[in-house]
Order: sequence, then structure tokens, then C-alpha cells
Amino acid sequence: MTSPKKKLIAGNWKMNGSLAANEALVQALRAGVGQSGCDVAVCVPSPYLAQVQSLVAGSPIALGAQDVSAHAQGAYTGEQSAAMLKDFGVRYAIVGHSERRQYHGESDDAVAAKAGAALGAGITPIVCVGETLAEREAGHTAEVVRRQLAAVIHANGHCITEIVVAYEPVWAIGTGKTATPEEAQAVHAVLRAQLHHAAGDGAARIRILYGGSMNAANAASLLAQPDVDGGLIGGASLKAPDFLQIIAAAA
Ligand code: 13P
Repeated sequence: MTSPKKKLIAGNWKMNGSLAANEALVQALRAGVGQSGCDVAVCVPSPYLAQVQSLVAGSPIALGAQDVSAHAQGAYTGEQSAAMLKDFGVRYAIVGHSERRQYHGESDDAVAAKAGAALGAGITPIVCVGETLAEREAGHTAEVVRRQLAAVIHANGHCITEIVVAYEPVWAIGTGKTATPEEAQAVHAVLRAQLHHAAGDGAARIRILYGGSMNAANAASLLAQPDVDGGLIGGASLKAPDFLQIIAAAA
């Protein structure tokens, strides 16, 4: 199933950056991004939302967050609500990144609730799914990603076409090991079929990003796959020339 929508290239800075480094990075991106044919976003650490909001103002670069609370307000020390993110012009929020699932014990249901909180505030959740190496080797890849996505569909079925999905095989994150274009496409097709079951023809509009050691050298072949609608980029999004080359490959 091919889809005519614009691709999305989103950088996930993870816990990296400083006032000075962010300014240099965003200025270089602004200078190089031009009238890109794809959508571009940077998902930054929360303390820098205000800074990066003003750095990207008037540019085609959208602002993203790396997580969002499932709760609207109250006694949830350390969390940020979707409304707070919205106050800073946030357009996208990553939810269910494998680092949050692994280090913070986020369950499929918790991720689904976070996606719902983002949607309720008009923020597009970038819902991450992906299998570990052990799960892949045991032949459980499709089952794992389907289970993770099913929770999000179950809780947000009425507005499921508003989400972005990111397939991020855990074994490919930060390891330099990328899924081959064929491996990525096979899983994206599984996800697309599941979305089609939930949303009918609307599923073709939903962007499914690939993430995991995507870089300037391998981006074009991954992005050429029919169900790869963009990328969620970690390490390579911290280097302006690399991120710009990935953007160019998607345009
Ligand atoms: P890397 O691009 O550094 O492998 O990270 C991928 C990722 O986790 C993006 O969310």
C-alpha cells in the first residue's frame, strides 16, 4: 500500500544538548532546511522547549517533546501535561519510546493513555513500537509490535488516524545496526495492515516512521520502501549536516 502523504523526519535529541549547542544546531538546520518537501521536527528535552520554540519560530521546523503525562494535572512530580507542552507550541510528542518502556517500566496501557492525553490537547503522538533482539530471534516481532499498537488503537480508536507510528527495533537503537530496508518494510506492512483493520482507508494517511541507527548513508534506501513514511532519528539528529542529508533524502 503506497501513500501520497508527505514524509516526516523527526529528530529525537534524547538527553543531549545545552543552551549553546541547541542554538548552534537549530541555526544550522534553519539555514539548510530550505523549502523541504517533507515535514521536519525536533523533539527536545523539556527544559529547552521554550528556547527551541523561539529558535524554530518562523521556520518549517516543528517542535516536539519526548514524553507526555497521561494525567491532566495534579500531584505527579516530574511530569509534564499535554496542555503544558501545548503552551510551548509543541506539535508532536514521542510516547512509548523503548527507553521509557525499559527504564521507566511503561506498559502498553500507560503508553496508550499518554497517546490519548496528547491527542486530547491537539498534539500528535509519535507512538513507538519495536521488538528486542531476543523477541526477534524467537520469531515474535510481528506479535510484539501488534500487541503494542493494539493497546493504542483500543484506547484511541476514534481518532487513530491522527497518530504517527514509529517502528524502532530495540536492537537497532544506538547500536549502528540498522534493519535492512526489507526488514523494515516487512514490519511496516504488518503495522499498516493492523491500522487498516482499525481505520479502513484512513490508514493510508497514517505515517509510519522507521527509527534505529538511521543515518545519512542509509536513509534513502529505507525511505524508498512503500510503507516507510519517514524517520525518527537519534544520534544523527544531533549533527546538522547529517540530519539535513536525511531530510534531503525524504524530500
Ligand atoms: P539512533 O538513531 O541513535 O539509533 O536512535 C534511534 C531512536 O531511538 C530515535 O528515537
